[in-house]
Amino acid sequence: MPTLSALFRHPPSPVEALHATLLEQQGVRLFVKRDELLRMGPGLALCGNKWRKLQYNLQAARDAGQNTLLTFGGAYSNHIAAVAAAGQAFGFDTIGIIRGERPEGLNPTLRFAENCGMRLQYVSRSRFRDKEKMEFQEKLHRQYGGFYLLPEGGTNNLAIKGCMDIVAEVEQQLERLPTHWCCSVGTGGTFAGIVAALDGRAEALGFSALKGDFLEGEVQQLLASSPLWRDNRGAWAINTDFHFGGYAKWKPELVNFINNFYREHHIPLDPVYTGKLFYGLFQLIGQGYFPRGSAILAVHTGGLQGIAGFNERFGGVEVPGF
Ligand SMILES: Cc1ncc(COP(=O)(O)O)c(C=O)c1O
Repeated sequence: MPTLSALFRHPPSPVEALHATLLEQQGVRLFVKRDELLRMGPGLALCGNKWRKLQYNLQAARDAGQNTLLTFGGAYSNHIAAVAAAGQAFGFDTIGIIRGERPEGLNPTLRFAENCGMRLQYVSRSRFRDKEKMEFQEKLHRQYGGFYLLPEGGTNNLAIKGCMDIVAEVEQQLERLPTHWCCSVGTGGTFAGIVAALDGRAEALGFSALKGDFLEGEVQQLLASSPLWRDNRGAWAINTDFHFGGYAKWKPELVNFINNFYREHHIPLDPVYTGKLFYGLFQLIGQGYFPRGSAILAVHTGGLQGIAGFNERFGGVEVPGF
């Protein structure tokens, strides 16, 4: 069994320059930080931003002598799959509190989590909303005993710290700082880490995977949550034009984009997060959003475990191996 130090002493994930006529036409360069290639444990779950968000948390759990991880998520959650995989890889017991009824047949994410040994408990959507409340968590402690609690999506200050490492790594790899940094936004933790580490030295643009314009407020709160980092308002923004109707919603043009992107660049994208990021990014590049001479860095945050569940329901993502 690998020790947790493997999560800290890893070779950096590659930074790859993409080549496309559109980029040449618009006079910009586009690099991809291929964090989806950071992988550990069973399957494809512990990769990308999950690696970054979990690494310091797993260490904190171990330092506290806590051998059980408990967390929350929806039935297709990348985070649930990642915590389950981390548990199996590093010898933690894991408990997943899942929003909604137990499905008749388990989907690939939940099947994977169970196979990794995660105990799953299903709670109604209304009870799930109370998960942050003290009484809800006390009940969980009465039921399961001690555990290290990871919030839904894994976002907390240690997760932000892990995502900050992405910036330092890229800076070393490229020997300079790209002018624009882009990533997909769900709970905002990954993006907050990037903004915090940039500290105003470059612009950051998040692409919301969710409908609504509440995420800027969430990111502001995350950035205000620790004296270790500053908000740097003005140097970052969240684009809400490319969520395709909301979380896990999609249209055929998104799936076509993912398939074409794989054919052209041999980089698999998922339909919930990274597909929307790159779709939106290419749209903005086409509209001349980025000044000529910009060096854009897009973080591939993983999420590939979700393709199987998407294809089981809707089909259409043609990426080999999924
Ligand atoms: C693959 C992938 N990319 C991006 C995100 C968004 O990250 P965050 O929740 O930190 O905003 C998530 C969800 O957490 C994810 O699973």
